[in-house]
Amino acid sequence: MKKITAIAHPNIALIKYWGKRDTALNLPATHSLSITLNQLETRTSVRFTDQLAADRVCLNDSPASAAFSQRVSRCLDTFRSLSGSSKFATVNTVNNFPTAAGLASSASGFAALLTAANASLVRPLDKIQLAILARQASGSAGRSLFDGFVIQHRGERDDGGDSVAEPLYSRDHWPLEVVIAITSENEKKTGSTDGMLHTAATAPYWQSWIDQSATDIQAATSAIRRRDFAALAAVSEASCLAMHAVMQSARPGLLYWNGTTVELIHRIRELRTSGLSVFFTIDAGPQLKAVCLPGDAEAVETDLAAVPGVIRTLRCQLGAGARVVSTVDEQ
Ligand code: DP6
Repeated sequence: MKKITAIAHPNIALIKYWGKRDTALNLPATHSLSITLNQLETRTSVRFTDQLAADRVCLNDSPASAAFSQRVSRCLDTFRSLSGSSKFATVNTVNNFPTAAGLASSASGFAALLTAANASLVRPLDKIQLAILARQASGSAGRSLFDGFVIQHRGERDDGGDSVAEPLYSRDHWPLEVVIAITSENEKKTGSTDGMLHTAATAPYWQSWIDQSATDIQAATSAIRRRDFAALAAVSEASCLAMHAVMQSARPGLLYWNGTTVELIHRIRELRTSGLSVFFTIDAGPQLKAVCLPGDAEAVETDLAAVPGVIRTLRCQLGAGARVVSTVDEQ
């Protein structure tokens, strides 16, 4: 029996995904564009064996919740049917950063799981097929398969065959840095899936959010191609604030920020006025991610660490895509 271990990094979206055009296939209602980070990582090992009557899933060294285990088993079912085997698996997944707190642990988690499970196949799937499975598991997970700047296409086809992640530019194209300000280590109360469905069902500004997103993706892609930091800052902050605005307009409104998140938004704008190249983005949680030109990352980190309410900061460069790191034969 082989134990295969893969590593994947979280990614953060500069142009946000929030909404589904098909819930069953998990097809996004918007394109999105992300950067993959290094430093933070999920390490997942998968070992199929004939000695189990069900998959056994551990998250951060403890048995995983029933809901998480089910999502893992659903992914593994695909590999069981591809290999024509009915073996269950032991899955151990460990994050070196807070889980389910708005740091994209589901993206890196499913990218690592699928990469490890794929390596167990005699004839592994190619990256496009893997990106489809990753998107089905979690809409942002396909983006963590790849290095650097990555686009997740909304796609047009009903079967989702064109709703895939695609690498846009490698990290060498523009080595940005990211400072993450952690303002809470608690798990969020409303997960992204529930939050999206609730927003689509009740927010009066839903269609404007979807329409604007199509324009924003083009502006961001062009800014990255030209390495135009001011243009990328403007469109990324606009996409982030528009996503939070549409969530907040849901009934009842969804508010993922705490007071420190708001203080940090003001602080980033002050830092930019003072001449630093930095902008913010925030996902479905209270952490703020400050994207910087490399020369300014240290000053940004020192400044954000001193904002009252910031528990700690993490500094990341752009990272590699998901990959297998070890294959061990075990009895
Ligand atoms: C706010 O990929 O976690 O981080 O497809 O329902 O699993 P599901 O959602 P998920 O949503 C991520 C939302 C976001 C924005 C983004 O990463 O684009």
